[in-house]
Amino acid sequence: MRTRNRAPFSQHHFSAGHGITSKSNGLLEHYSDFITKNKPSANLVIGSGSGLIPMFFADVTNYEGRYNVTLLDAGIGSVGFGHPWGNLGWAYSDSDLYKFYPDIRIIYSTSTLGMLYLINNNQLFDNIFIDANHSESFVLEDLENSIPILTKAGVIILHDGNLKSVRDAVIKFIEKNEDFRIVSESSIGAGMIAICRKEIWN
Ligand SMILES: C[S@@+](CC[C@H](N)C(=O)[O-])C[C@H]1O[C@@H](n2cnc3c(N)ncnc32)[C@H](O)[C@@H]1O
Repeated sequence: MRTRNRAPFSQHHFSAGHGITSKSNGLLEHYSDFITKNKPSANLVIGSGSGLIPMFFADVTNYEGRYNVTLLDAGIGSVGFGHPWGNLGWAYSDSDLYKFYPDIRIIYSTSTLGMLYLINNNQLFDNIFIDANHSESFVLEDLENSIPILTKAGVIILHDGNLKSVRDAVIKFIEKNEDFRIVSESSIGAGMIAICRKEIWN
């Protein structure tokens, strides 16, 4: 993985939630599985208090020096385990995200409005990572809004899969959208759940 002079992910504020230590990549290994299988050309990260996940996807999907990562975040420090706006959050001028990843597109908005913008502009993603407001209704809305912007073979990865609210939202989503199924789960760190359309990766 390219590191581009940034600080090691194990030093990031949100490293523990992803099970990352100086000796283990934790959940990043699971996220990488989909990259290896799917080789996503467009990644959407919804919510990222530290920029860790957008930087990770930029690194692992960097093909010939180019990556396609969009970060959609409302900068609400108090929600979704977000950090108060400041040096340990993501959007400050001296952050690794700003210094080393100038091509990560940042949409500073709630997921509701930001995803509507992406839907209305027919933008498609092979990989959608959901980690914003973790209450069930918000997660469910983020999942439903992902359908029109997810490519056919695309994957949706949810962080904090150990939370009941996140898990319940996923269950409700796949009950309603029967063409989707859970394709991978891990309880490392705060846990992850990945879903995709049933016909993919049998
Ligand atoms: C826990 S942080 C995610 C941290 C992430 N796991 C990481 O490693 O950087 C949750 C983020 O969701 C954002 N957020 C909360 N509610 C949101 C909403 N309704 N729409 C968009 N972003 C939201 C917050 O601004 C915060 O940055």
